[in-house]
Amino acid sequence: MNIPDIIIAIDGYSSTGKSSFAKLLARKLGFLYLDSGALYRGVTLFAQEERLISRLGAVSPELKDALQDLHLSFGSDGRLFMGARCIEQQIRTMEVSSQVSPIAAVPYVRAWVDAQLREYGHRGRIVMDGRDIGTAVFPEAQLKIFMTASEEVRARRRYDELKAKGEEPLLEEVVQNLRERDYIDSHRETNPLRQAADAFVLDNSELSFEEELAWVIGLIQGKFGIL
Ligand code: CDP
Repeated sequence: MNIPDIIIAIDGYSSTGKSSFAKLLARKLGFLYLDSGALYRGVTLFAQEERLISRLGAVSPELKDALQDLHLSFGSDGRLFMGARCIEQQIRTMEVSSQVSPIAAVPYVRAWVDAQLREYGHRGRIVMDGRDIGTAVFPEAQLKIFMTASEEVRARRRYDELKAKGEEPLLEEVVQNLRERDYIDSHRETNPLRQAADAFVLDNSELSFEEELAWVIGLIQGKFGIL
């Protein structure tokens, strides 16, 4: 398929399978995949390690200056690095999940992450997933998808994912975390999670990856007149 150099923005609630879908789509199109949530998770891990966030989620004002010394980058396989250290595993734990949304609600943290994300956007040919990609980071994105799925399906997916990584989460705890993050993400003042007016909605509660892919490829072909 001959696709123009576009940006594809995929936003939606926690654990709707955005990342897996975005990765698959990027591979299919030969685009770069970027996980904006990984950067918020990276900042959260940094704040925890530097003791700039309390157990109750109070963020120290010192985080702002400290961010100047933080270097996060994606390896060629998409894993996140802090300096030379691969932090891909640590950023996916419940410990990070439980504090990422308060960190992501801080305006200077969002500005810091946005600056990194826009660097990647210059040449197009990217699929980026997050909460505000189609509304704030790349409002000019040529294709926007808003993903959703039932709470039960989302909680089960996240629970299975954590189990597969060797964690021992409680299903209740996972449900609680999804609810809390969705609430904070949708109600924060700076760039809250919301559906862009020109986004296509994808509810994947009962869809397989193949079905999702077929749906989006059909959408791309129709939108860009590709046979
Ligand atoms: O994997 P999951 O969908 O559960 O979350 P994620 O994409 O890894 O994002 C983790 C957290 O980062 C979210 O709950 C948001 O609080 C924040 N985030 C955000 O505020 N804006 C984005 N563009 C991406 C993530």
